[in-house]
Amino acid sequence: MKDFIAGLPKCELHLHIEGTLEPELKFELARRNGLELPYASAEEMRAAYAFDDLPSFLKIYYEGMQVLRTEPDFYDLAMGYLRRAAEQNVRYAEIFFDPQAHTSRGVPFDVVIRGLRRALMDAEARLGVRAQLIMCFLRDFQAEYAMATLLESLPYREWIAGVGLDSDEKGNPPAKFAAVYERARQEGYLLTMHCDVDQDNAVEHIRQAIEDIGVDRIDHGVNILEDQRLVETVLARGIGLTCCPISNGHVTDSMKAEGIRKLMDLGVRVTVNSDDPAYFAAYVQENLEALQNALQLTRQELAQLERNAFEITWLPRHRKDAYLAEINAYVS
Ligand code: ADE
Ligand code: ZN
Repeated sequence: MKDFIAGLPKCELHLHIEGTLEPELKFELARRNGLELPYASAEEMRAAYAFDDLPSFLKIYYEGMQVLRTEPDFYDLAMGYLRRAAEQNVRYAEIFFDPQAHTSRGVPFDVVIRGLRRALMDAEARLGVRAQLIMCFLRDFQAEYAMATLLESLPYREWIAGVGLDSDEKGNPPAKFAAVYERARQEGYLLTMHCDVDQDNAVEHIRQAIEDIGVDRIDHGVNILEDQRLVETVLARGIGLTCCPISNGHVTDSMKAEGIRKLMDLGVRVTVNSDDPAYFAAYVQENLEALQNALQLTRQELAQLERNAFEITWLPRHRKDAYLAEINAYVS
């Protein structure tokens, strides 16, 4: 099964580029930028990764990314991820970035997006991995800052497929960003947002995302199983869920494998992704292996998870069909 998963053409739809910052690259960027890190080695840094909920993870995540300063830093970050993705036979990725996590500490938006964009172009040419960017707003910052970031992104509109919402969900419901999302839609952006697992008011947040905001996709969203009507709505609208089993195990009490199984059985377009692989020590291959192991998934079910993913990408129909044909050729 491990080999079958390795050869399966894969799609990654829930991946924070800042969450791919491996300790080795952190040390390299710290050296490059003349910064001191409070660890003696990459191993020591990894050993200090201790989190058991979303806030404790986010603290380490935001601290870690402070070594990212220049355009080449963002290029190296994204290129490092895309190389690993290519090794795992990821054929296509939609990649989140958090501009406010950088602009809020003085790194210009332009520096961030130019570095990422250049890596995406090089990866497509050299590695054959295609990728697009999704700009996330930090929900624990004010809505006005998100709106300003949206306006700042408009000169780069063609480089960004859509917008997302991440960071600490507690007390930061989708409704807080209704006007920002309305404007994003007017500008032609596609819409997704995190509805993290087992958060306060999780089901109400999912309801707002679907019914009030009108998202095209939901990131995580497993708690939708607590509301039959919302399940029917995502089925009717074909809204996909980007689940991250190993991430779930780090920020809640479990991988939520049984919930993912239920969603699969209901026919919801559920997908398997890695979230913050440098912190959770698992890229998409390892996430699929873990879920396969927990649920005894068959080859057909694994292939279906990847079909779901390509189906809910923000790609034109002919590109989706080309990737789906790759899966069919592999499975047969
Ligand atoms: N930022 C990076 N990873 C995240 C996650 N899983 N949830 C919310 N915000 C995030
Ligand atoms: Zn996430």
